[in-house]
Amino acid sequence: MSRLSLEGGHVLNGTVKVSGAKNAALPILAGTILVEGDSLIENVPNLLDISTMIKMLNSLDVVAEPYPDKNILKIRNNRKIRHIAPYDLVTAMRASFFVAGPILARTGYAKVPMPGGCSIGSRPIDIHLTGFKAMGAEVRMEHGFVELKCPKLKGVRMHLDFPSVGATENIMMAACLADGQTVIENAAREPEIDDLANYLNRAGAQISGIGTSVIVVNGVKRLTGCTHRVIPDRIEAATLLIAGPITGGRVTVEGAIFSHLEPVVMKLREAGCEVIVENDTTITAAFNGPLKAVNFDTMPFPGFPTDAQAQMMTLLTVSAGTSVVEETIFENRFMHAEELKRMGANIKTNGHTAIVTGVPRLSGAEVKITDLRAGAALILAGLNAEGITTVHGMNHLKRGYENLPEKLTSLGAKIL
Ligand code: UD1
Repeated sequence: MSRLSLEGGHVLNGTVKVSGAKNAALPILAGTILVEGDSLIENVPNLLDISTMIKMLNSLDVVAEPYPDKNILKIRNNRKIRHIAPYDLVTAMRASFFVAGPILARTGYAKVPMPGGCSIGSRPIDIHLTGFKAMGAEVRMEHGFVELKCPKLKGVRMHLDFPSVGATENIMMAACLADGQTVIENAAREPEIDDLANYLNRAGAQISGIGTSVIVVNGVKRLTGCTHRVIPDRIEAATLLIAGPITGGRVTVEGAIFSHLEPVVMKLREAGCEVIVENDTTITAAFNGPLKAVNFDTMPFPGFPTDAQAQMMTLLTVSAGTSVVEETIFENRFMHAEELKRMGANIKTNGHTAIVTGVPRLSGAEVKITDLRAGAALILAGLNAEGITTVHGMNHLKRGYENLPEKLTSLGAKIL
């Protein structure tokens, strides 16, 4: 399915369960390269990006297969790990570069294609490489590959230039099997990093400072198989929560973690939505009278997540007044704005800033998905819009949302 048509104007009501977090499952699967024996990873979302990572593991001779269904993966890591990551998998998904640290730490040598750019920005890997170098790795970039060499990584104190999620994860994984202690200062604090650290600790790693900006890893000789359950996807939860109020309805998301969603919940309340939190895991967002403009900046966690910026902006296109949105994480993450304008939104962008003036309602149009979260935003826009919206490029959405059309249909959306 490369496109999806939906009829807007149906009020969404009901309860929906959130899936496992893509951005936690991906580094955890890369982390299984470090873990000898069998691991069972539960609550893995069934997504295109996950299939890419499974292919990657299999190509390295780490066997990953559904057990007994697609949301549980059994990983068997009993063979000699291969050193070279395939070009097509790394260029298809930037997160494939997460295998670099684990392969290096496990085997002393890794050859991984450079991930290249992507639609939301250039996304370099310099912070990952600086970390590996600090731990003693020789780094060579040739013929489109990054080659990393170091018979035994050494623990070291380092300060990241920016709290990059991927670099924190890659360096933390490599440090698990290093000699001595690694201290990562200015580490990212996203909940997905905590989940990775919890998995690795369960496998025998010694990581402390989890959830803080100083992560301390005491290297161990080996990690061994264990069972781990992936945390719920906070970005999927945020998307589903916005789907309630943007249609004048009320959506309850079950199985979420409130502390991961706090910045989004705060902004939804500021925009005039009613948000009820029960037991920290069940969150309801409801339309509660006219929506109001709000300003927000994307920030590393615990700030407002860049991955929910497009969806929140969509809500603001139908909120009375003028909102200012600052995207501080990625340089090119307003591509959804042009598509939303095709649906009648009033948005002006200038560099990292978008100024959104609310209109009473969007109107259905043919639009194109440019990246994963932009796709979610356009579907939210289609739910609100008068008439029919056809969203092209659904393959982007399948990379990161498990059964989104089905979940929205269960809440009352009319997908044609
Ligand atoms: C992860 C998430 C992605 C999310 C992002 C920010 C996964 C699989 N993906 O991506 O969904 O949008 O965090 O929350 O978990 N940067 C550098 N040099 C580096 C690394 C990063 O300059 O070596 C820059 C990037 O270009 C970007 C910023 O840092 O501008 C944030 O990137 P980073 O936190 O690394 O994001 P990812 O790990 O790629």
